[in-house]
Amino acid sequence: MRILVSDPLSEQGLAILGEHFTVDVLTKLSEEELIKKIADYDALVIRSGTQVTRKVIEAANKMKIIGRAGVGVDNVDVEAATEKGIIVTNAPEGNMLSAAEHTIAMMMGLARNIPQANASLKSKKWERNKFMGVEVNGKILGVIGLGRIGAEVAKRAQGLNMNILAYDPFISEEKAKELGVKLTTVHEIVKAADFITVHTPLTKETRNIIDKREFGMMKSNARIINCARGGIINEEALAEALQSGRIAGAAVDVFVNEPPFDSPLLGCDNLIATPHLGASTEEAQINVAVSVAEEIVSVLNGGVAKNA
Ligand code: NAD
Ligand code: MLT
Repeated sequence: MRILVSDPLSEQGLAILGEHFTVDVLTKLSEEELIKKIADYDALVIRSGTQVTRKVIEAANKMKIIGRAGVGVDNVDVEAATEKGIIVTNAPEGNMLSAAEHTIAMMMGLARNIPQANASLKSKKWERNKFMGVEVNGKILGVIGLGRIGAEVAKRAQGLNMNILAYDPFISEEKAKELGVKLTTVHEIVKAADFITVHTPLTKETRNIIDKREFGMMKSNARIINCARGGIINEEALAEALQSGRIAGAAVDVFVNEPPFDSPLLGCDNLIATPHLGASTEEAQINVAVSVAEEIVSVLNGGVAKNA
């Protein structure tokens, strides 16, 4: 059987696949190139770079499983895959700690203007007054989406002595209590929070969950973070809130279009940004690659998919 790996995958994952199957690593394929090649393969392994569209799936005549070495399967047309009987699986736990740590790093970078101060000093300026920051100690962090990553962010923020408000319609009061978090509504969060972070999947309910109206309710010293998916926070509304000084700052790792070179966000001085690095650690990349490779070996050898 043949496996196509169309985004970079760690060696540990490739080694597991290579013990059982013929593996081709072909990255940066266009949709047309992928359509031409896909019929030869029994499984496809992706990260966030490959768009597995309906057209790609229609051409995938031997395909049995698509494995996402990460969490979000929003770059796969899951409905089209399901219609064709193709299993779509992911690696739900392998990168959660890295994504949570990146969120905390972004929050601290935002609170203390670290990227801006670094750029200023490297351009040979000594601007101590320009980069006055804020403490996170005692502040309110609003967490929208209290799943694996949201919960890990909440735990770490409690270690920084922050108070946590959370919104997640699928989390019980009991679970929230166990995490030491107060469940409330999105609107109560945006009114009260000093920092807000989103950790939901991108769905029709969560797209633009933070939009112009919500920015209008925020405190002027509010700071917002998106290390989940581009589009959960409306990018135009965020750019306007940053440019007008409606809020103090934002930290963004994920964008509606990646790379986001045309996004108005990149022109905002009070925005710090990273190029979708939430899961980019040595540990996370080994974890997700091994997890997805083991899943593919199991399914192609007649076993079950644990994460479908
Ligand atoms: P998860 O499934 O464990 O948690 C998501 C949570 O969102 C769940 O608790 C769910 O109940 C909640 N949710 C769903 N709909 C909601 C709604 N309408 N309002 C509020 N909450 C809602 O997922 P996770 O592993 O914690 O991942 C969270 C996000 O982070 C995903 O979008 C994932 O793709 C993204 N992610 C990004 C990176 C990165 O590199 N930046 C890395 C890993 C994950
Ligand atoms: C994910 O959903 O897991 C992230 O987007 C991480 C990634 O694969 O880059």
